[in-house]
Amino acid sequence: MPRTEHSGSPSVTRERSPPPSIEHVDTIAQAAAALPVDEVYNISLQNKERCHIYSMECYEQMYHRSIKDSDNFWRDIAMSTLRWLHPFTKVQGGDMHPEGDVSWFINGKLNVCDNCVDRWAEVAPERIAIIWEGDDPQHTQTITYKALLNRVCKFANMLKRLGVRRYDTVGIYMPMIPETIYAMLACARLGAIHSVVFAGFSAPNLRDRLIDAHCKIVITADQGIRGGKIIPLKNIMDEALKECPLVDTCVVFQHQGQAINWIEGRDVWGHEMLDGMRPYCPLEIMDSEDLLFMLYTSGSTGKPKGIAHSSAGYLLYTALTFKYVFDFHPGDIHACVADVGWITGHSYIVYGPLCNGATTVVFESVPMHPNPSRYWQLCERWRVSQFYTAPTAIRALMIHGTEWVENHDLSSLRVLGTVGEPINPEAWRWYYEVVGKSRCDIVDTYWQTETGGHMLTPLPGAIKCKPGSATRPFFGVEPVILDSKTGKPLHGNNVNGVLCFRRPWPGMMRTVYGDHERLLNVYLRPYPGYYFTGDGCVRDKDGYYWITGRVDDTINVSGHRLGSAEVEHALVQHKGCSEAAVVGYPHSVKGTGLFCFVTMNGDYEVHAGTTKELRDIVRKEIGPIATPDYILITPTLPKTRSGKIIRRLLRKIAASETDSLGDLSTLGEGGDQVVHTLIQEAKKLTTPPTK
Ligand code: WTA
Repeated sequence: MPRTEHSGSPSVTRERSPPPSIEHVDTIAQAAAALPVDEVYNISLQNKERCHIYSMECYEQMYHRSIKDSDNFWRDIAMSTLRWLHPFTKVQGGDMHPEGDVSWFINGKLNVCDNCVDRWAEVAPERIAIIWEGDDPQHTQTITYKALLNRVCKFANMLKRLGVRRYDTVGIYMPMIPETIYAMLACARLGAIHSVVFAGFSAPNLRDRLIDAHCKIVITADQGIRGGKIIPLKNIMDEALKECPLVDTCVVFQHQGQAINWIEGRDVWGHEMLDGMRPYCPLEIMDSEDLLFMLYTSGSTGKPKGIAHSSAGYLLYTALTFKYVFDFHPGDIHACVADVGWITGHSYIVYGPLCNGATTVVFESVPMHPNPSRYWQLCERWRVSQFYTAPTAIRALMIHGTEWVENHDLSSLRVLGTVGEPINPEAWRWYYEVVGKSRCDIVDTYWQTETGGHMLTPLPGAIKCKPGSATRPFFGVEPVILDSKTGKPLHGNNVNGVLCFRRPWPGMMRTVYGDHERLLNVYLRPYPGYYFTGDGCVRDKDGYYWITGRVDDTINVSGHRLGSAEVEHALVQHKGCSEAAVVGYPHSVKGTGLFCFVTMNGDYEVHAGTTKELRDIVRKEIGPIATPDYILITPTLPKTRSGKIIRRLLRKIAASETDSLGDLSTLGEGGDQVVHTLIQEAKKLTTPPTK
């Protein structure tokens, strides 16, 4: 196929399937052939002139320095980007191997809140820091940097009064309202470590996270609202707190105003208490390496891990990626429509933008509420310059057609970002052409909760895009593709393996809260000397990186990472369920859907409502994001002779890729029959009934 170059206007309608998952790719040649590597989009004209990183040469020069002269590169950037209360004495110490004792900007003292709020309140008090748009578009609020400082100080004084001190952990289970951001920044001001739990998680999940984080105080609201649907946050919190003996204070904000239970002595009204607080609160002087926050994320096994980030390194990395990847300039309005309960919200709604003195949009609603033009209304209304969302949302919006986009003035947009999962080229082109009118740059940003900020990403103004590729490494990032079996680096281009990073970067996680061994076992020991991402990756003929999906047992549903073990654990809570195996399968909107294979106890009678009961249990144990798409109740699961479930087979069955099942010799006796029956049952389940 000839190489095509696009300079903006001509639209391309070539059909391509999304990059394959590594499990389905047997050879490098096959993987590379499946990628639409020959489609290149040039830098948009409107960005060429003004970008910080204005050409490929500029990127390469800076990238080269960030690797070859790393200490000086990061020293200069740290000195010019952050406000230090005491300068650091050494740029980087420790290493990934063997202890995982990486540290950055050693002996430096700073306060993250000072960097994100105070210094902007000093120089630009009237600049808008936060634009809040509620679930109901009529509800909005704008908060200047001066007002933000006032609110954060009051909030910090309230927390202090409630007993919060440096290094205490504070649980935050909140809707997307400004108070959530005040809570995070107030913790940073006091040197307390926040742990935000996504407000879509259920009581058992919330409970486990609060216990693991040793929280003594939690912050929540009466109810949240998303897409018109009320979420009873305080009730869920009450349920979780029944088994959190350590928590002695629950701060509640009034948001929806419906009745709630009240436990005298434990519960306090946040908004009432804030009124009485002094709007000045001195800063705690923190060390670069003091933890700023932890955020729980799913792994392949066991309970979720509290990914813990540092103060200086994390802040610097999010600030720098924010500036260059979104090409931020003063006056820009940045809208990241993720939830603050995920790392994307931490890094690109709160810390990255505010550390740059930007105006950041806090959006409470969902893309379809009240109709599929909600995002574009938001962009038009606030004259948004950078818009950041997930491929899932784009795919869901595409289904509704272009008319929802076309009647909005989107001329303020310059950079459109995606995050969380691979974007299929079709969705990429829709974003580029329909939303961006072929004049915005698309940044497909690859990163993780653990990496703190972007790792592989295009830079507007410098790096040409290929739809579906996260393109090149950010400054200071040295990606390596390893052969998954031998662990040897695969040099040159046209290689396919597992993605690792060779050297520490400032934003990398520092530990798993209370379980440093887990950092070593999951990320640093699998391939000694490297940070292991858990993702498969291809480097194409031009040195561009393509993420091919998770190579472990985590499943990326709508950009949210779930552990198959977590969902299986929830399913076996059903009294009749004896065993469960959960795998991902390609889903046209979610990217990956959940397919659950379940066996029931011999004496349990399956009835018409069993599947619903199983589904409800998962929603109750984890939350609606983990709702299974398919549940197949089956008498037996395919296992090896030693009794291990063969997930590889289940993945193929779930994806209806049953033509080449590979080697079945590892199956125990009667295994062929088990597989045959499963294929038939899965087909029945996934084929819609004909009318
Ligand atoms: C996946 C979200 C392809 C990947 C910031 C990673 C992506 C996991 C991309 C982390 C992308 C994230 N292209 N895959 N642009 N971005 N992923 O921790 O599998 O919620 O390991 O962080 O999402 O998910 P997490």
